[in-house]
Amino acid sequence: MGRLETTAIFNRELASRNIFVSPPEPPAEFLMTDPGNSIFIGRTKILHVPFHWTFKDVTNPHICIVGITGSGKSYFVKTFLTRASFVWETNAFIIDWAGEYKEWVKQTGGKVISLGKGSYINLLDLGGMKPNDRIKQVIRSLGILTDIERYPEQKRLTEQSIEQAYIDKGFKLSDQKQVNKAGKTLLPPTLKDVQRILEEKLEAGTYEFPAELENSIYRVKQFTREGEDFFAEQSTVKLDELLNVGLVDLDLSGLPDEVFRAMAGLSMLQFLKEKMRAEGWSSQKGLKLLVVLDEAWKIAKEDNSDAVMIVREGRKYQFGLIVASQNPTDISEAIFSNVGTTFIMRVKFERFLDYLQNSLNFSDYMRDEISKFGVGQCAVNMAFQTATRFSETFLLEKIEGEEPLQEYFLDVESVLTPQERRAGMAKTYSFEKNELKNRLRTFGIEDQKVEEIASLFQKKNRHLDVVSFVILLERYGIARPNITSFLKDIGIDDSVIINIFSKADFTISGMGDRDITQVILEE
Ligand SMILES: Nc1ncnc2c1ncn2[C@@H]1O[C@H](COP(=O)(O)OP(=O)(O)O)[C@@H](O)[C@H]1O
Ligand SMILES: [Mg+2]
Repeated sequence: MGRLETTAIFNRELASRNIFVSPPEPPAEFLMTDPGNSIFIGRTKILHVPFHWTFKDVTNPHICIVGITGSGKSYFVKTFLTRASFVWETNAFIIDWAGEYKEWVKQTGGKVISLGKGSYINLLDLGGMKPNDRIKQVIRSLGILTDIERYPEQKRLTEQSIEQAYIDKGFKLSDQKQVNKAGKTLLPPTLKDVQRILEEKLEAGTYEFPAELENSIYRVKQFTREGEDFFAEQSTVKLDELLNVGLVDLDLSGLPDEVFRAMAGLSMLQFLKEKMRAEGWSSQKGLKLLVVLDEAWKIAKEDNSDAVMIVREGRKYQFGLIVASQNPTDISEAIFSNVGTTFIMRVKFERFLDYLQNSLNFSDYMRDEISKFGVGQCAVNMAFQTATRFSETFLLEKIEGEEPLQEYFLDVESVLTPQERRAGMAKTYSFEKNELKNRLRTFGIEDQKVEEIASLFQKKNRHLDVVSFVILLERYGIARPNITSFLKDIGIDDSVIINIFSKADFTISGMGDRDITQVILEE
């Protein structure tokens, strides 16, 4: 006969028996909102409830994402922007520090602006502001990025020369209208005009502290030197046209250093904030614009940047800010402690975990899970508007991303005859990754092997030599007629295909018992 006995068990064990306690997850009605008006992210870890994000119940639409390199932050951002565009037609503006979104934005048909590679932003563009207001912003940026605050006389001289530069171009400093009496649009000055004004003052020889003047000129020159005058030419970037064209990537990777990148980032945020205020609220559902700052720690940690203003005011204008960083302490507290949602991917360092746990107040169980996450797994913290009786931090099994379209290439150069080369026959053929995967599956290849083949492309910069590719498929047991039909479908001529197979036979005979995968990796 059985006997009942009481034993002491840990809370954690008890918690895993979800018949006894409610699990650390919000109830389904907070997770599964109207799919036509929310963004699907993934399923919760314990009850597998599909989590659809909206900012309806949280304090604001802004998002922080933290996690070590490779944990899946940028992947999440891409997935999120894709779905926001689909569900709400949300536009996105990515301030892309390292140029890591460039390829993806191109693939999705968005617009890439590469500063430092032929695109310019005039720092003195007004973006709809009065010159006086814009001058204050420019000086504030200089204060953040240089030590000008320690030299009040140089600051004053610079400010005065910028004012003069606007006046010389026909602007009134406290006037928002930027047309002259004849109704013609005025062209703003550039930093080169400012430099000239300072130099003329020096030449006139009447100013009593020439050393201060010389230093001011030196400061401005850092932004006007030939080849580094990205902010000292008339803008080639029309901001007005960039906020409602879908996905825009401002690629800063071509700029020479962090100061230039931060200058571009700060200025963009200033313009975006002005635009936000000028546009006001509209009846559009969801979000109008998402501004992304990924790994832009130099501006994300700055309490004086306009990212903070967007966080304060964004909700009422349907503007959202997304900040991603490997280091949570590099995100200004004014941003971090005020965002409505935080996605925590894998975090390893104890001091970062301490910081997150103290700020967001989650359990030790959660902390332990966070330090063990695999790629794409995360904890979500939501700051609900009203007090809740459930855990505001919960685990997702995995961020269920959009598989991005990706092209693979087969190089056929090695099999072309001299005549074919002279005739200008194509040297590479491309196809879509998923096309290959689907095809391989229809040939009866197991999923794991399909992934192995795809990963070889990935390792070789998405290019494989066609002969190696054919040998590889044969080794996986695919019959020649099937291989032939695939090669034909991607556009390779019959005559070239014949050459490919004879070269393959020749190569195999010389390979002995070496593994083709090894041969490919060594190529
Ligand atoms: N949720 C996910 N599902 C599948 N693959 C993912 C997921 N998250 C990230 N990855 C893959 O992991 C790699 C690293 O992700 P990435 O977003 O670049 O990391 P991070 O920006 O945090 O450094 C990428 O190759 C990406 O495609
Ligand atoms: Mg990243």
